Amino acid sequence: MTATAPLLEIDDLRVAFPGRGFRARPIEVLHGVSLTLGEGEVLGLVGESGSGKTTIGRATLGLVAASGGTIRFQGEDITHAGTAQRRALARDIQVVFQDPYSSLNPALTIEDILSEPLIVQGVTARDARARVLGLLDKVELPKDAGQRLPREFSGGQRQRVAIARALAPGPKLIICDEPVSALDLSTQALVLELLMDIQRETGVSYLFISHDLGVVRHVSHRVAVIYQGDIVETGRAATVTSTPDHPYTRRLLLASPVADPVEQRRRREERHRMALLADGGTPAGQQGDPAGEHDDPNQVSGAVAGWPGPAIRPEA
Ligand SMILES: Nc1ncnc2c1ncn2[C@@H]1O[C@H](COP(=O)(O)OP(=O)(O)O)[C@@H](O)[C@H]1O
Ligand SMILES: [Mg+2]
Repeated sequence: MTATAPLLEIDDLRVAFPGRGFRARPIEVLHGVSLTLGEGEVLGLVGESGSGKTTIGRATLGLVAASGGTIRFQGEDITHAGTAQRRALARDIQVVFQDPYSSLNPALTIEDILSEPLIVQGVTARDARARVLGLLDKVELPKDAGQRLPREFSGGQRQRVAIARALAPGPKLIICDEPVSALDLSTQALVLELLMDIQRETGVSYLFISHDLGVVRHVSHRVAVIYQGDIVETGRAATVTSTPDHPYTRRLLLASPVADPVEQRRRREERHRMALLADGGTPAGQQGDPAGEHDDPNQVSGAVAGWPGPAIRPEA
């Protein structure tokens, strides 16, 4: 690694999935995505559902193949890393998924779940046990949690286990893919606090993926906004999330839930106004503007006022 290389450098990444049906052409879902992430940095990646966020994370983990571009980790090209290189990388790059119910093996005790990545690394069973106690403490779970099964825990507690498992090998980067989206609001806040405390304590970097601009604003140093497989805006979190340049980011901001009903109403009206502009004067409600009806930012859809959308490109 050179002194100046970022921890993670994604350059012009393209990913295409096979199309459905006989002789279907591949469908490109990432159209040349570039991102960098420094050591100790939290980069928020925000965009509506289906925009390609998870695919970026999975490509970085080697779970989907890149059809173009490069992914470098500590200056090393890992785009097409083989099994041995991936095994070595698993020490440095870890992941926390959205669903705490499907991401933990239900047949294993928490201690087994947490020791597994350590034993793979050659840590003895005895040392692993001691390290597991330390990990449980770090994620604020009781000491006796190790002897229990995942089903004995709530969603938030399971997500703490998933975070502990990600921390076990002492990674430099954790890909957090919607880590709090499946949790209720009060639990979200606690798990976010935990993630931030851990980041400050350990200096680990996060690629923090969420559809919720409010969540991303809260945890990130910098934010990248993705729309239909293209990064449309990148910048300091405070700037991007308060005075966004891009119409799509403004739309995400307006769709992000707020506690204040007056502010919520103002945003709803603003969304309607933007939708009206985009539709050339048709009332939003009649044009199927889901964001105008309820406040799920995953549901933001339709044209973005003042922006023609990304150029139509040939399929890969
Ligand atoms: N394994 C797959 N096969 C085919 N299409 C996929 C696959 N995974 C994701 N996609 C498609 O790629 C696009 C981006 O998906 P994803 O990265 O999961 O978005 P996000 O995480 O932002 O919701 C979507 O249109 C999705 O349907
Ligand atoms: Mg996703």
